[in-house]
Amino acid sequence: MFKNIKIGTSPKQFVLLAVGADRKVPPHAYRSNSGAKDALKHALFTGSMGEIVAGPGQFVLVGLGKKEARTPLAFRTLGARLLAALDKAKIDSVLIVSDELNAAQGQSIAEGMGLAQWRFDDHRGTASRAKEPKGVLTVEGGDSDLHKSFIRGLALAQSINVARQFAATPPNVCRPNWVGSEAKRMARQSSLRCRVIDVAQAKKLGMGGLVAVGQGSSVPPCLVVIEHRPTRARGGHLVLVGKTITYDTGGYSLKVNNGMVGMKYDKCGGAAVLGAMHAIAAQKLPIRVTAILAVAENMVSDDAYRPDDIITLHNGVTVEVTNTDAEGRLVLADALAYATSTLKPDYIVDVATLTGGVVVALGAFCAGLFCENDGFRASVESAAARTDERVWRLPLWSEHRDFMRSRHADILNSNPARQAYPIQGAAFLSYFVDEKTPWAHIDIAGVASKENAGSSPTGVGPTGYGVKLLTELATSLAG
Ligand code: BES
Ligand code: MN
Ligand code: ZN
Repeated sequence: MFKNIKIGTSPKQFVLLAVGADRKVPPHAYRSNSGAKDALKHALFTGSMGEIVAGPGQFVLVGLGKKEARTPLAFRTLGARLLAALDKAKIDSVLIVSDELNAAQGQSIAEGMGLAQWRFDDHRGTASRAKEPKGVLTVEGGDSDLHKSFIRGLALAQSINVARQFAATPPNVCRPNWVGSEAKRMARQSSLRCRVIDVAQAKKLGMGGLVAVGQGSSVPPCLVVIEHRPTRARGGHLVLVGKTITYDTGGYSLKVNNGMVGMKYDKCGGAAVLGAMHAIAAQKLPIRVTAILAVAENMVSDDAYRPDDIITLHNGVTVEVTNTDAEGRLVLADALAYATSTLKPDYIVDVATLTGGVVVALGAFCAGLFCENDGFRASVESAAARTDERVWRLPLWSEHRDFMRSRHADILNSNPARQAYPIQGAAFLSYFVDEKTPWAHIDIAGVASKENAGSSPTGVGPTGYGVKLLTELATSLAG
């Protein structure tokens, strides 16, 4: 496997010919390479989308198929498979020659390559060996548009991989204090400002939700605040909030055995926000963006919070806890209320692995979107369409808000009636944002990680869903 992918030239490069189903050789390939036409006569090569034949002479043949087959996902998958094929054929340098590829498609290929390159081998021990990554793959984009789009695609993959790396880190390593120091390290590398609101400050700020959820753990909860403040900013102030539960046992409303495994991915909202900040900083987007990670570990102990507790959150709203497994909304609520009271946001988006219900409803095909502001929802939906990180709207009405009312406190964290769980989560959160501030809640429980690789370029494991969506949203708001 390649340790690195570099964009540039190299003396012994192979020529990567990307052609459509008609297998027509681009004229400039003729001029530089007389063997191009012969290579394309390779018996096994039909030119259909995703086909790769490495090594008829100094050539790599790549099929792009008919126009209809050329979706962004197909190009990302092609990039991922190309990386594996080049590795297998021991080809470490290619010059891309094509008349068929546009910049967006080139970017998708590079993104797929970058995503496929990511490995999580940090925790391999003496009983299994990681394939030592060696060598550098050099890719030359040919014409300058394609070249630039390759650089963009690789950079984006890097930001997505930041999220995947964070998400994959096991919960015995990634505990709330680790999130704080890791976020600071990443912020320093990206020239972002980062501060951590510790549990003592959180108590002073009246963040009863964050404190309650974290109090069963031997490692206290915290809020991580990361700021991107460009000198010339446009488009207002965007706040991104990420659910960052480093592990979700359910607390006293304990999850049943198989419901707990995989709950290290309950920090994927925070992972998406971290990755997006990485991309936003790298692209120097001219918009002010503040990220808040609401970090806690939901555990069982004699200090843990329990069903029937009544707690007061940052904005004074009291919550009767009916289910300690509905913890995400409690930490998010304090973060949303804090953003509202201190950051004067123009837009707020929260991203969270909030409910199993959204997985039942929408599966791994898209995230659930809640946003009652038509203009802002259109912005989120078009960012989702452009990045292929799909969302689907679910309703959030006053009836849903009323459904969360409590007899003994203001609201319940979960209505015991097993109904509309994803909407209950959104309805709960709506009590902690200002009605006038455009707000979107994105439930990513179904898309944050994958159990079946399918044709996805990220394969099994964390997907990094949300990095592109949030970055694209910030781009569009910057105008
Ligand atoms: N982290 C879970 C949601 C989840 C479930 C994420 C499956 C990924 C896969 C969340 O904290 C949770 O436990 N939600 C409960 C809420 C319920 C108790 C109101 C759920 O969805 O069952
Ligand atoms: Mn839970
Ligand atoms: Zn959770």
